[in-house]
Amino acid sequence: MKLNHIIKYTAILALPIMSIMSCVSSGDNPGIEYAPNMYISQAYEPYSQDRKFATNPHGMTMREPVNGTIARGQLNYVYPFPNSGDGYAASAEFTGDVESTEENIQEGERLYNIYCWHCHGKKGKNDGPIFKEKKMPAPSWPNYQSDYIKELPVGKAYHTITYGKGLMGSHAFMLDPEERWKVIHYVKTLANNVSSSASTDTTSTADMTATDTLNSNSVN
Ligand code: HEC
Repeated sequence: MKLNHIIKYTAILALPIMSIMSCVSSGDNPGIEYAPNMYISQAYEPYSQDRKFATNPHGMTMREPVNGTIARGQLNYVYPFPNSGDGYAASAEFTGDVESTEENIQEGERLYNIYCWHCHGKKGKNDGPIFKEKKMPAPSWPNYQSDYIKELPVGKAYHTITYGKGLMGSHAFMLDPEERWKVIHYVKTLANNVSSSASTDTTSTADMTATDTLNSNSVN
């Protein structure tokens, strides 16, 4: 009977202590894991370390690219100007090799209507919901049709999309370099009020007459 008591109380005391201790993770011990296969990948994680990979430095599962090399197909990611005032000034000279064709402008419009319109507005009037509802102050220039955007060197627009400028964040992770140029061609189309076949709304200035609107399809 006495022995039974000791076993009983030891078990009652030991259980919570053991369960608390076994849950605690420290150092290399991850503690208790429920069904770890559900969240620990069976495949090797890139750049993780595994002593088995004796040939790779530090047992890395994947090697980092050799310094100064460019992965195949990613040459157009090379952009020489740093994210600084001087870099922005120098970017004025930068031009891409993506031409301003009808097809590229249309693709630029599609991308613009995903990534840009909510601030700059569908037609570049800076009347997207974010600016309109004053969630963020709009740029100092009123719209894309202002001289500032008309005259903005395309390289500077590329720099801004790549790194961001002021309150506009970088869009580099959303748009690859080719897509950035396509969007810029579309921005310039809006700025110069040249209508692409996909966009039929050409009313850029409030005082335009109906005839002006019709004519604006050709030149402007
Ligand atoms: C969150 C709102 C927001 C979004 C989204 C946004 N912009 Fe902007 N954009 C701004 C603001 C604010 C400025 C003014 C930045 C400054 O000069 O301080 C600006 C500036 C610009 C300029 C002038 C750049 C320069 O060098 O002065 C261009 C061109 C432009 N945006 C195009 C785009 C394009 C194209 C997209 C989509 C890929 C885009 N923006 C998405 C807020 C936005």
